[in-house]
Amino acid sequence: MNHTPSTFINPLLEAKRPVKIAESCILVIFGATGDLTARKLIPAIYNLAKDGELPAHFACVGFARKPQTHEEFRAAMRKAVNEFSRSKPVDDELWSHFSEQLFYHQSDFDNDAGYESLQTFLQKLDTQLGTKGNRVFYLSIQPSYFPLVVEKLSQHKLIYNVDTEKEKWSRIIIEKPFGRNLESAKQLQAELLKFLNESQIYRIDHYLGKETVQNLLVFRFGNPIFEAIWNNHYIDNVQITVGEEIGIGTRGNFWEEAGLLRDIMQNHMMQLLTLVAMEPPTSLHASSIRDEKVKVLDCIRPISKSMMDQQAIRGQYGPGFVNGQPVKGYREEANVNPQSNIETYAALQLFIDNWRWAGVPFYIRGGKRLPKRSTKIVITFKRAPGYLFQESNQLDSNVLGIRIQPNEGISLKINCKVPALNTVIQPVKMDFHYGSYFGSTPPEAYERLICDCMAGDNTLFARDDEVFGSWKLFSPILEHWENSSPVDFPNYASGTWGPDEANQMLMKDNRSWRLV
Ligand code: BG6
Repeated sequence: MNHTPSTFINPLLEAKRPVKIAESCILVIFGATGDLTARKLIPAIYNLAKDGELPAHFACVGFARKPQTHEEFRAAMRKAVNEFSRSKPVDDELWSHFSEQLFYHQSDFDNDAGYESLQTFLQKLDTQLGTKGNRVFYLSIQPSYFPLVVEKLSQHKLIYNVDTEKEKWSRIIIEKPFGRNLESAKQLQAELLKFLNESQIYRIDHYLGKETVQNLLVFRFGNPIFEAIWNNHYIDNVQITVGEEIGIGTRGNFWEEAGLLRDIMQNHMMQLLTLVAMEPPTSLHASSIRDEKVKVLDCIRPISKSMMDQQAIRGQYGPGFVNGQPVKGYREEANVNPQSNIETYAALQLFIDNWRWAGVPFYIRGGKRLPKRSTKIVITFKRAPGYLFQESNQLDSNVLGIRIQPNEGISLKINCKVPALNTVIQPVKMDFHYGSYFGSTPPEAYERLICDCMAGDNTLFARDDEVFGSWKLFSPILEHWENSSPVDFPNYASGTWGPDEANQMLMKDNRSWRLV
């Protein structure tokens, strides 16, 4: 049978939705003139509209300091959707309806009058659009403003007390990083709890919204053949790589404050690690899953001071070539200190001290300006005893590769006899690709997460103890790095896989980094 893409209904996709119903509300984006709003948030909301997933009664209000009219904001957002949306170009008819729900509100974050006029404006929209007083406030702003904005929202009755207000709801989405270390994360949490209930706080980690990350639970707990061998009897080591070709772009100010550990490892990579290592949850309820992730974090052995330089490697990119194009080093980027000691690469060796994982090293690495964009989890199994095939070449390990992005999919490497009269063994790969199997691009992480927040489902958001658990591990590393300047930065050229020390960390264990 010959199907054209427009008429063919893929039965495998039919099962995918709907999951939750987003409730009528107004979404207010603080930091609406920033990069994230243009690249991710508005394109995500547009795609939700396109897929019919937005609530029937909905509005989105951009809040920022820059003076501009609703029309100017709409024009800028249309340009952004055209550039960054997974579906483009913009559909004129859809846009004309969608843009009627887009508004702009100018104010400084500390200006009481700005919050007062926001309240009046939102109430007017409620009457016009039927959004019922429900609010999502998305804080896509510098973290130092989080407490101030929440306090102002509370003072001006824009967020509601969950104990007394039962008719309408208000929720806050907070972008990472949540704190700069354990102490500041706890401080921030205390500040927020003065005005909010924990159930109103949605700490976003967009990795959790990725289809391939959500599939980790299904892969592990829906396939008993893997769960049976998911332990230190069969697994030799686990590797997690988050590699990016891009540098820090225009985010010099942010990076000088953050660095790779805070930007990617403490949050995105630890989410991947905990999902790979957790025990089966008792249910798919948010709290059961989060409880299991927290247990993994509790079992990770802290890196001792004496082992810091062996188990925590840092790097910073110098000039080099990416995709054949010359690129600057980190220290030459805009708004970066020319002597900066900020890391743009990190690799750690971690151990999880529990029955399942005792003795299995978890090697995790992340970096900017690596040769290619690749987020992968690679599970290397123990080798078969070689005595049966001593005559032939050496058996390779079975390797399971979970490609989070791009080219999303899962592969399994097995040993196979090459067809011939003699016995020569060669590893071959079984490979599953989401794209070719399901025939569609998965929704962007932000689509799923914004929708979940409007539906009141916080499963895919980080809980306070998860964030603290992760900081507990990373704070001593950051402290060690802050107190001991690296002498050799930059220590890897752009377009290479990071500093040599990261390779040596594995070589001393007779292993090497694998991309499968
Ligand atoms: C963000 C980081 O959280 O994640 C960026 O701040 C990084 O530095 C980005 O580039 C990676 O996200 P993704 O979805 O492209 O892997």
